[in-house]
Amino acid sequence: MKVSVIGAGNVGGTLAQRIVEADVSDVVLLDVMAGIPQGKAYDLCDARSILGHDRNILGTQDYKDIAGSDVVVVTAGLARQPGMTREDLLKKNVSIIKEVVANIKKHAPETILIMVTNPLDVLTNVALKESGFPSRRVMGMGGVLDSSRFANLVAEELKVAPSTVEAMVIAAHGQGMLPLARLCRVNGKPLTELVSQERCEALTKLTVDRGAQIVSCLGKGSAYYAPAAAAFSMVKAILNDEKTVVPACALCNGEYGIKGVCIGVPVRLGRQGIEKVVELQLSKEELAELKSAAESVKKAVTEV
Ligand code: NAI
Ligand code: 2OP
Repeated sequence: MKVSVIGAGNVGGTLAQRIVEADVSDVVLLDVMAGIPQGKAYDLCDARSILGHDRNILGTQDYKDIAGSDVVVVTAGLARQPGMTREDLLKKNVSIIKEVVANIKKHAPETILIMVTNPLDVLTNVALKESGFPSRRVMGMGGVLDSSRFANLVAEELKVAPSTVEAMVIAAHGQGMLPLARLCRVNGKPLTELVSQERCEALTKLTVDRGAQIVSCLGKGSAYYAPAAAAFSMVKAILNDEKTVVPACALCNGEYGIKGVCIGVPVRLGRQGIEKVVELQLSKEELAELKSAAESVKKAVTEV
């Protein structure tokens, strides 16, 4: 198995670490900054005899090294700084993504592509178009992270173990995010029966604002431990053919009444990539919010 990670910054470096330390795959770490991927790769390799794994990590600037990758994860680009929205990153990151995707298309044409760079939904659409890959092989990571944040905030509110909370966040990875409080379960019980509607709305808002809260605490850059864990879980689901249903930015082809745009929806992930867009029974209001998020992304994609 071979996974390439484009962008050896905070998310890319941490993702590479998670993949090799879980003994899931070898990793190629590529970045435009000379020395950075090499230095991180040497450092990760030096930990192998302590941790007892034999996975290879190669740091490089050369796209030839990604040939034969089963999965390529794109984390290249600028990260949010305090006061910036994910959308503010669009202008700079769109040209980076076009260049990165053209190289992936050339050197790893059979790979499955997971986008991470923000603004996630717009750039997943750009990657799908620029790569020309079938839609099952192009997806974006946003919903797994947002769902995990929602689950964690619910767990802290109710003082229960995070692993007992099932949460699903769909739609955009941004202000158009839709935490599905109605479907959230804590030890099998609906969240809506455990907290007041007011607290439910507060937890939803905290989830939407979590990324910005972390940016403001860090002062420089954005979250990367949970984002890397989220991307790792998608890589693992694909390589191990897990058939897990997770929210991901995926092309809708009539599902939820949405057509021709990638947006956050539940998908089944396996060795072929996206095996199916899963249609949940959404309320009228939830469906309207999902469609509105998809429309906003579609408009932004048309503009770039
Ligand atoms: P970072 O600044 O630590 O790393 C980005 C890396 O990309 C840098 O090492 C930089 O040299 C590299 N890079 C820039 N242009 C490149 C190019 N043309 N080719 C190859 N590499 C290039 O940023 P961080 O924290 O790793 O975040 C990366 C991206 O992921 C940002 O856009 C951020 O907003 C996004 N992000 C998305 C999340 C999501 O849920 N979808 C969660 C967290 C971050
Ligand atoms: C986050 O949600 C910046 O998208 C990134 O933390």
